[in-house]
Amino acid sequence: MTLRKGVDRSYDVLVGRRILSHLHEEIQRSGAFSSYAVVTDEHVRPLVAEPLQKLLKSHQIDTELLTVPAGEAAKSVTTVVELCQQLVVRGFDRQSLLLAVGGGVVGDIVGFAAAIYLRGIRYIQIPTTILAQVDSAIGGKTGVDLPSGKNLLGAFHQPLLVLCDPDMLDTLPLQARRDGLAEVIKTALIGDPELFALLGREGGGLLDVDSPVLETILVRACAVKCRVVSQDEHESGLRRILNFGHTLGHAVEAASNYMITHGQAVAIGMGVALQFSREWTGLGKAEAEHALSLINEVGLPTEIPPDLDLGSLLAALEKDKKIQSGICHFVLLSKIGHPVIHPIRLGELRRSLEARMNQ
Ligand SMILES: NC(=O)c1ccc[n+]([C@@H]2O[C@H](COP(=O)([O-])OP(=O)(O)OC[C@H]3O[C@@H](n4cnc5c(N)ncnc54)[C@H](O)[C@@H]3O)[C@@H](O)[C@H]2O)c1
Ligand SMILES: [Zn+2]
Repeated sequence: MTLRKGVDRSYDVLVGRRILSHLHEEIQRSGAFSSYAVVTDEHVRPLVAEPLQKLLKSHQIDTELLTVPAGEAAKSVTTVVELCQQLVVRGFDRQSLLLAVGGGVVGDIVGFAAAIYLRGIRYIQIPTTILAQVDSAIGGKTGVDLPSGKNLLGAFHQPLLVLCDPDMLDTLPLQARRDGLAEVIKTALIGDPELFALLGREGGGLLDVDSPVLETILVRACAVKCRVVSQDEHESGLRRILNFGHTLGHAVEAASNYMITHGQAVAIGMGVALQFSREWTGLGKAEAEHALSLINEVGLPTEIPPDLDLGSLLAALEKDKKIQSGICHFVLLSKIGHPVIHPIRLGELRRSLEARMNQ
């Protein structure tokens, strides 16, 4: 699978079981490097990063192993500065290579450090969560949070290569699996009806990381993301469809003070978007019901929790950087695999959400 970027560069997104055993060959194919650092978080370090470092050493690639704290709280400027300082101390130069080994948090931090260290060095994404494999590792969006909001500081910086190995997912906690599946379902709904049918046949079985179809599912989901971001690298148009479920999802996350996980919030956002799609963009009843039951079968919610404060939810929506002159651009569906951008006035949105929450 190849992501074409602009006219001058493309990179591979390789998906497959045991693909990591070929990492040394892929590194050698990617260019000449002066030094290497595997950057990971404290959870992933013993599970994936240390074995990977040993494997690379057995192929004469010596790496530094650098660790950042696990979790969203680490996605800060401070972490990036500390990481860059460690690179300076170890003499990393413009020809050095970083390997981001972890979930979306590690990927975003390392990608951003690679974008700004010495005005930009090369890096490889080795995502270890479902979310990171099908979503955050592909597309070159990197960045960190500020105290006032998520992902407010960042850069577009494409990796040299993305390696997604489903075997990395064996140790992933159940909630992280569910969160990742929310993104897989999103991808199917906006861009791959066949993947949607496959997911529907598997239902709750999708939570089993040993499932023989997991690899196919990851390949198809990655293919949709590659297709979208290669056509719109800097999010000027098409890439907006990736926000399906996310406009409301981000607001749900914020209004719950991040007690609701990203995947759960996106699932709720998709639930509401599916209902809106029935009302406004002609999505068929059976298709909407099929999608809603799939989301529920993998253990994700589709309704706004009744105890969530509507005022906080609307305030969070209004702060969204994608809302212009009181109009919220929702990604809805006319059919499975056919997203449409539908403008909704905030007043109308408020009335619609109030009605849903008071049902
Ligand atoms: N750059 C983008 O385009 C983009 C897109 C979507 C999301 N994101 C970002 O991704 C982040 C979320 O990523 P995430 O859901 O992967 O979260 P995460 O990176 O925090 O990982 C979730 C948890 O799982 C642990 N973990 C990771 N891999 C594991 C494994 N194989 N086994 C056991 N534990 C493992 C991590 O240590 C962490 O505790 C958010 O910061 C979000 O903003 C970025
Ligand atoms: Zn998401």
